[in-house]
Amino acid sequence: MKFSDDFIFGGATAAYQCEGSTLEYGKGKVSWDDFLAKQGRFKADPASDFYHQYGQDLKLCKMFGINGIRISISWARIFPDGTGKINQEGIDFYHRVFQECHKNNVEPFITLHHFDTPDTLYQKGDFLNRETVDAFVDYAKFCFEEYKDEVKYWFTFNEIWAVATNTYIEGTFPNGEKYNMTKAFQIMHNMMLAHAKAVVAYKEAGYKGQIGCVQSLEYKYPYDENSLDDIQAAKNEDVLQNQFLLDATFKGYYSTETMEIVDRLVAINNGQLDLRDEDFEVMKKAAVLIDYMGMNYYQSRFIQYYDGENDIHHNGTGEKGTSRFCLKNVGRRMEKEGIPRTDWDWLIHPESMFDMLVRIRQQYPNYKCIYITENGMGYKDEFVDGVIDDAPRIDYIKKHLQYALKAVEAGVNVKGYFVWSLMDMFSWTNGYNKRYGLFYVDYETQKRYPKASAYWYKSVSETKEV
Ligand code: NOJ
Repeated sequence: MKFSDDFIFGGATAAYQCEGSTLEYGKGKVSWDDFLAKQGRFKADPASDFYHQYGQDLKLCKMFGINGIRISISWARIFPDGTGKINQEGIDFYHRVFQECHKNNVEPFITLHHFDTPDTLYQKGDFLNRETVDAFVDYAKFCFEEYKDEVKYWFTFNEIWAVATNTYIEGTFPNGEKYNMTKAFQIMHNMMLAHAKAVVAYKEAGYKGQIGCVQSLEYKYPYDENSLDDIQAAKNEDVLQNQFLLDATFKGYYSTETMEIVDRLVAINNGQLDLRDEDFEVMKKAAVLIDYMGMNYYQSRFIQYYDGENDIHHNGTGEKGTSRFCLKNVGRRMEKEGIPRTDWDWLIHPESMFDMLVRIRQQYPNYKCIYITENGMGYKDEFVDGVIDDAPRIDYIKKHLQYALKAVEAGVNVKGYFVWSLMDMFSWTNGYNKRYGLFYVDYETQKRYPKASAYWYKSVSETKEV
């Protein structure tokens, strides 16, 4: 079987990770600027200088059969303070980028928020504060109207789970808080509310395009499938990362089964959630109105029962074997014999992506369509005389694409796949040694070099076969 002729073979990017010019051209500060400066490990300037190099990157897309690109708009380039005064230079920049996309026949898929909340709103509590929900909806409406002739595919948020866990459980995103399950659930809910309000606004205004959100999913298997404790631990993590957000996306409320686990986890932490009836009214509307969901998929997890103390260590250096994730009363992530890992300890387990796609179709039969909005492999690429032979990345992408096609055969409506990432770029918690791109970036010269994977991806896009 082949991919359909209109299948999107895309590449993904995110504003803060590729644009550079983080405080130039009228852009306001975002939550990351001070956080990274304080850490002093690395900064997002000039990154891949997409602000000036987008012409080059879009030409490469065209040359290499890449017919879709995920780009995020930086909220603080449009509204430097999150609300109020607009920055015309930022608005014009994205017009230029979108026009360049169309000139090269590369369909832009636009994300409104990719981890970069404007600092003014971040300081007031980020999305834990409902003022940010309203500010986001205003920003979204502004973009819908401003770019209505150039953008047909919108995503409200990127990876709400990543925001929650990295900000409040793992402590790797600003401001580094750890083990606060209540805040993690609350911010997920508030962001899904903001998503829903933006979706309803988009549809009520009658725009012609499509809209959805991007969730980051990981299949959670019990470490020992015969252990009832491990089965429960896997379910806990699944609800925490997957099911809470999938319920919000496709149902617009949380099922009883979901809430049993959520309530237990929040109670253990002596917390309380603010979930209002009026939130569910709008979320239920959006669940019917969305056109698709974006799924970022990188790995699965094997979870073991755990009742020890919280103990998380994030491998943000690529030293294989240094990760630990043990969450009290939830579970502990384990390695599994026979399943290879990247240098950052991410399990390479492509069949689990198939399991997740089939699960969505079964559990949420009203889903309409799925784009795999990110998938790819972080790798320490070697640059040898202008040649980058990234065979392990080709193998990774190939296997995931094969399972995507298998899912299509099994009846899941998958309409596109975006490699993370189009070109090498800044990594939030690793800086620059973790490369994902189809195109190698020399950060000194900003020159791009196609990797072996780019040539291989081109042939897949041309033949529609993998
Ligand atoms: C998820 C995020 O959307 C992106 O920003 C990140 O760099 C990649 N995955 C790789 O971790």
